[in-house]
Amino acid sequence: MPFGSFKEALQDGLQNGYAVGQFNINNLEWTQAIVEVANEERSPVILGASEGAIKYMGIEYMSAIVKTAAEMSTVPIILHLDHGGSYEMVLKCIRYGFTSVMIDGSHHPFEKNIELTKRVVDACHSLGIHVEGELGRIGGVEDDLTVDAREASLVRPEEAVRFVRETGIDALAPAIGSAHGHYKGKPDLAFDRLAQVRDLTGVPMVLHGGTGIPDDDIRHAISLGVSKINVNTENQSAFTNTVREIFDRDKEVYDPRKYLGPGRSAIKDAVRAKIRLFGSAGRA
Ligand code: 13P
Repeated sequence: MPFGSFKEALQDGLQNGYAVGQFNINNLEWTQAIVEVANEERSPVILGASEGAIKYMGIEYMSAIVKTAAEMSTVPIILHLDHGGSYEMVLKCIRYGFTSVMIDGSHHPFEKNIELTKRVVDACHSLGIHVEGELGRIGGVEDDLTVDAREASLVRPEEAVRFVRETGIDALAPAIGSAHGHYKGKPDLAFDRLAQVRDLTGVPMVLHGGTGIPDDDIRHAISLGVSKINVNTENQSAFTNTVREIFDRDKEVYDPRKYLGPGRSAIKDAVRAKIRLFGSAGRA
């Protein structure tokens, strides 16, 4: 089937109390694993393409692989730019068939973030492309923030109101203390801010750094209006741990299918667990 609609998927999640998973892709096996599970679970799914992954795969290969996967799929597949850094990158992705993008202007001052995000939204909406923006700073776990720095990195709900109204974004990733990568301890999420942003804006919200967030916190976030959750590191670890075990066990293995296949199955298991946790199984 053709690519699914990012906006429709998130709106449906918001209305029906579930979240659509964004799982980042790195290669053919990743794409196959995620799309196969989505079909088995009858779930809509978002394939996240970071600028790094686009560079690694080559945008031509990435776009062709995902288009083929979507054509073979009987559930909606969405190809989404993850943390796009520039207007030019967004346009390039649209040229290669992406139907939604994230523009991440969060490292800019607030006014500049609004200006960049609005410029992207204006161009994208004229082409029927949906846009996710980011407010506050979603870091990596290596950032190890002090209390003051953590406070400064969190979304300010009153800014979210202006950001959503002035940019016209379709989804907002508010920084609430989650981070990319494996957490060192238990993540401390600012649910109060999530609730405030929901009450003040009503826009579908995105939770980044989905790896390692306890199941109860995920359910809590969904109950407060999160309708897209991003997961990457967990699938990378599942794949790599499986391949590493095979190499440890069998020093003679040389046929890549003997380890890429089990690696792909490990991604499938990890994605299936998330799709069920997010409540999107059976929604497509
Ligand atoms: P994790 O790698 O922590 O799962 O985060 C993924 C993400 O948020 C991509 O934008």
